[in-house]
Amino acid sequence: EWRRRDLVNVRGVPMICAFAQNLEEITEHFQAKDDDIVIATYPKSGTTWMSEIVDLILNDGDVEKSRRGAIFQKVPMLEFRVPGEVPPGSEILESVPSPRVIKTHLPVPLFPKSLWDKNVKIIYVARNPKDVAVSFYHFDMMNQLHPDPGTWEEYIEKFIEGNVGFGSWGAHVRDWWNLRQQKNILYIFYEDMLEDPIREIRKVAKFLGKDFSEEVVNRIGQQTSFKAMKENPLTNYTALSSTIMDQSISPFMRKGICGDWRNHFTVAQSERFDEYYQRETAGTDLTFHF
Ligand code: PPS
Repeated sequence: EWRRRDLVNVRGVPMICAFAQNLEEITEHFQAKDDDIVIATYPKSGTTWMSEIVDLILNDGDVEKSRRGAIFQKVPMLEFRVPGEVPPGSEILESVPSPRVIKTHLPVPLFPKSLWDKNVKIIYVARNPKDVAVSFYHFDMMNQLHPDPGTWEEYIEKFIEGNVGFGSWGAHVRDWWNLRQQKNILYIFYEDMLEDPIREIRKVAKFLGKDFSEEVVNRIGQQTSFKAMKENPLTNYTALSSTIMDQSISPFMRKGICGDWRNHFTVAQSERFDEYYQRETAGTDLTFHF
C-alpha cells in the first residue's frame, strides 16, 4: 500500500515512500545515453511546462506530433514508481525513442552517476520558494502518494525544515546552481518564463541546437500557455488515475502565476519565510523574483 505514507530518508533526503525503494538502484545503475536530455527541478517549479516546451522543440513545433501521448509518457519521470498502478519511470524510459527527455526531481546527491558520466544536456528550472510552497501544499493535498500536508501553518514549518518530498528547496536550487559552470546545464527561472515565454523558449531551443523562425517559436508559445496546457488533456494530468492524483481536491494546472503566495501567507509567515530565503541563498548569486 502506497497511499499517504510517511516520507522515507534516502541518504539524508526525505523521499516519497513509493519512490524510495528503487532509488539507490536508479542512482547507481540507471543507464544514460549520450543524447539524453534531462529536465531537473525541485517539485512544482515548472517541470511540466518545460517538458511540453522541450517536446515541441524536438519536434520542430509540430503540434500533431506533440499529441502522440500524455506528458508523463512522452517525458517520463525517472524515479516515478507506484507499485501495482503503472510501470516505473525507469522502465518506460527503456522503450522511449531517442533523444529521450527525462523528468526528475532528484537532488544532486541522488542524481544517477551514468547521467554525469555521459555529460548529458540538463535543463534546470527554479521557482521562488514562496510560490513553490503554496503549489506544493496544494499538490500534497491532492496527490495520494504524498503524506498529508496538515494545515498551511504546519506545512510552512515542514517546508522550512526541508521535511517534504525531495527534501530542502534551498539545497536543491543551490547544488544545481553551483554545478552549472562545470556541467552541461541551462538554468532557467519560472518567473522569467512567465515574463517573456518567447525569449525563454528561444534560449532552450538554442541550447538544444535549434534555430526557429518566429512563426515556429510563437506556435510553441501558444501551445504551452497556461490556458492551453490547462485545457489540454495530454498536459493537465487528467489522464493519470485519480487514485494517484485527485484533481477534485486541487487541479494540477492550478493558477500558473507569480505571487499567489500573497493570498496564503500572513505578514508574520512571510517575514519568517524571508529569513529562510535569505539564509538559503546567502553567499550565492542566486536571486528570485517574487
Ligand atoms: S510537478 O508535479 O513537480 O512536476 O509540478 P510542476 O510541473 O513542476 O509545477 C506545477 C506548477 O506549474 C504550473 N504550470 C504552469 N505555469 C505557467 N504556464 C504553464 N504553461 C504551466 N504549466 C504548469 C502549475 O499550474 C503549477 O503551479 P501552481 O502555482 O500550483 O499553479
